[in-house]
Amino acid sequence: MPRPKILVARTIFTETLERLARHFDVQANPDDAIWPGAALARHLQDKQGALTTGTERIDAALLTACPRLKICANMMVGYNNFDVQAMAARGVVGTNTPDVLTETTADFGFALLLAAARRLTESERFLRRGEWIKPGYYRMFAGAEVHGSTLGIIGMGRIGQAIARRGAQGFGMKVLYHNRARLAAAAEATCGARYAGQEELLRNADHVLLALPYSAQAHHLIGAAELALMKPTATLTNIARGGIVDDAALARALREHRIAAAALDVFEGEPALHPNLLTLPNAVLTPHIASATVTTRRAMAELAADNLIAFFEQGRALTPVTPEPQTSHGSQTP
Ligand code: DGY
Repeated sequence: MPRPKILVARTIFTETLERLARHFDVQANPDDAIWPGAALARHLQDKQGALTTGTERIDAALLTACPRLKICANMMVGYNNFDVQAMAARGVVGTNTPDVLTETTADFGFALLLAAARRLTESERFLRRGEWIKPGYYRMFAGAEVHGSTLGIIGMGRIGQAIARRGAQGFGMKVLYHNRARLAAAAEATCGARYAGQEELLRNADHVLLALPYSAQAHHLIGAAELALMKPTATLTNIARGGIVDDAALARALREHRIAAAALDVFEGEPALHPNLLTLPNAVLTPHIASATVTTRRAMAELAADNLIAFFEQGRALTPVTPEPQTSHGSQTP
């Protein structure tokens, strides 16, 4: 039986590639090129599987061009690069990498919150510019308190809950959360968090943090009106997805000091950024790296590989995000 052919769409760890090569005929991407739609379709045309990342859009047009494709294993917990309906309609399985990145991403979310509140990058730039001429004891880079303040988390999945635990247990914060569904009482108690409506949360939180998945309903969930509800001393941290925040409205609010600061790891249209964000001293900006530790990125790659191997060899993916097709897709399937 011929081995399934798979495409690894971006550069990943050598040991994961070698492991995949023991199971599949693998086409890798050693140059780490980003293949836009038509090029991706060309590379995928004869493949049954793909290890994908956020830069590969899997939509109806691509699926039509690649009729052999059976599974796309995303090396991310988010999967807004998948058109899940189109994949389900064609029986193409999509998988993601939950759990393995939860704590690492929560660490980074908290790091961003601290950086925005305590003006970390702004003060570091000042120092590097050689402007620290005399010690300041009055208001030099005086920021917002974190310990004992109120944290408002929108999106209370695994990562939101891990951030809540850090806030409540590590920093003695009062934690409010907003989510599509309220958590069970036991989970609320573990996180030390209280459910609140979105408006109540925005009005009362000293630090608002976004950890919800992107969806059409979440597009511009935080825009000018929502920013206007926040305290002028508050910070906003986005580790969720670009497009959930209206970046132009946020840049205006930051410039006019309608909120104190923001920390953003994700952007509308990334890797492009709204140009006004770049000029703002009260914006902490990082290039979508919340899950980027070597250990976690390795675990994400391994889980994506596990999904491909389980799908083709046991007929079932481990962490599907699309409905499983009824037929088996074991190694016999072309
Ligand atoms: C994810 O896994 O969805 C992250 O955003 C990628 O770093």
